[in-house]
Amino acid sequence: MALEIEYQEGQTPLDEEEKAGLRIDTITTREELDEFEQLNIQKAVEWTIKNRWPAKKIFTEDFMLALHAKMYGDVWTWAGNFRKSNKNIGVPYYQVATDLRLLLDDARYWHENETYPPEEIAIRFKHRIVAIHCFPNGNGRHSRLIADVIVANLYKSEVFSWGSSTLVKADDTRTNYISALRVADRGTINDLIKFARS
Ligand SMILES: Nc1ncnc2c1ncn2[C@@H]1O[C@H](COP(=O)(O)OP(=O)(O)OP(=O)(O)O)[C@@H](O)[C@H]1O
Ligand SMILES: [Mg+2]
Repeated sequence: MALEIEYQEGQTPLDEEEKAGLRIDTITTREELDEFEQLNIQKAVEWTIKNRWPAKKIFTEDFMLALHAKMYGDVWTWAGNFRKSNKNIGVPYYQVATDLRLLLDDARYWHENETYPPEEIAIRFKHRIVAIHCFPNGNGRHSRLIADVIVANLYKSEVFSWGSSTLVKADDTRTNYISALRVADRGTINDLIKFARS
């Protein structure tokens, strides 16, 4: 049976070619998919906890791709590869690599010059990378894990609590998360920082 998944607000639907990249053909529902992805992500989180990386390693395209591959590589063939189609969120697909390069340059600069406090660097990075939307799917979870990796590795701070939620369900917490992102789109990052620490 083919994969038939329903999408909630603020999620990016997969096209047919992307759906064909599913490695586990027994998955047919959104719940099963969420569960397999979550298991894969858990392994990636453990990998991030066991390792320590400097800024010159983290703020690279290779690291961004490697982390996505670790998070979704058991489930999707396209894990760790930039998307090749346009989505309802994000820049045109052919702009992804250049926009990401600009963000990585900015982030290295922020870090070296202490332009913003540590948490703000992590959350600004999270906001910008999910706005680019590098991958066919999994961008939200990837961006949140990156923010955690940034604070834990570069500033020895606690990882974020992200509304004390997995943000999978379309509940009030997810609504607050999406509104904080929209406020950040308009240039004010504080709501998203507050949400991440809630
Ligand atoms: N209106 C919006 N403005 C800005 N960003 C948005 C908006 N709606 C969704 N997003 C971002 O896109 C992400 C969803 O993208 P995608 O489906 O690729 O990621 P995901 O990891 O599967 O999602 P999730 O956040 O549900 O775990 C959300 O987490 C959010 O960060
Ligand atoms: Mg999604």
